[in-house]
Amino acid sequence: MKVTIRNEEEKDYRIVEEITREAFWNLYAPGAVEHFIAYSIRKHPDYLPELSFVIELDGKIIGSIIYTKAKVVDSKGVEHPLVSFGPVSILPEYHRQGFGRKLIEHSINEAKKLGHKAIILGGFTYHYHPYGFVGSKKYNLAMPDGKFYTGIMVLPLYEGALDGISGTIHFSEAMYPDEAAFAEYDATFPEKEKKVLPCQAKFEKAVSEIDTTSYE
Ligand SMILES: CC(C)(COP(=O)(O)OP(=O)(O)OC[C@H]1O[C@@H](n2cnc3c(N)ncnc32)[C@H](O)[C@@H]1OP(=O)(O)O)[C@@H](O)C(=O)NCCC(=O)NCCS
Repeated sequence: MKVTIRNEEEKDYRIVEEITREAFWNLYAPGAVEHFIAYSIRKHPDYLPELSFVIELDGKIIGSIIYTKAKVVDSKGVEHPLVSFGPVSILPEYHRQGFGRKLIEHSINEAKKLGHKAIILGGFTYHYHPYGFVGSKKYNLAMPDGKFYTGIMVLPLYEGALDGISGTIHFSEAMYPDEAAFAEYDATFPEKEKKVLPCQAKFEKAVSEIDTTSYE
């Protein structure tokens, strides 16, 4: 079994979107939109191809991670560039076998090598705490509504990387693509049954949970 991680190339886009759709289907909402987010990111200037990777098993792509620019804007209006990743996907039949970890750790190391300050992202804590991500509250980085959420996490990439940086987090607008164009795009994929499942409610709860941790 040969595992390869390499940069995503244009020829991989569609297969990555297919995998992303499979990985996210009915997970956080009935159906999925994350494949459309992947598609939209590639067309946006915030896309970071040098940090976007696919993982292959014996030459077959089984997962991907896509990075975009993000930023923190401080109280003086100064912008501090960070990076973010997502969607990150592994085909469901390969879950919990360490492939996601390999892919995420590889991308973190590459982001370090490129000199980025920190990675900021949203998601379940159990997916990202294993890599050292902590609530953004620890660094006084709030969402634009001024709140700190447990599901918004940050990983400084070197000692002191976030010293003196606080403010409001702005993910790329590429993460919020035009909903009107979605149905037409999704219709180019095979039909799949949309279901309401209990895991979707858990996600709603997780993303709206306020971080009450004291990081003193
Ligand atoms: C998230 C995802 C990319 C992880 O890939 P994976 O190959 O299954 O992950 P790994 O096997 O490398 O797991 C690494 C660690 O992450 C944590 N983890 C991953 N999936 C988890 C789950 N469902 N529940 C709890 N912890 C989990 C565990 O600590 C795990 O280590 P362990 O298996 O030794 O306990 C994959 O599950 C996926 O594609 N999920 C659907 C899409 C998704 O949710 N993406 C993230 C959006 S926030």
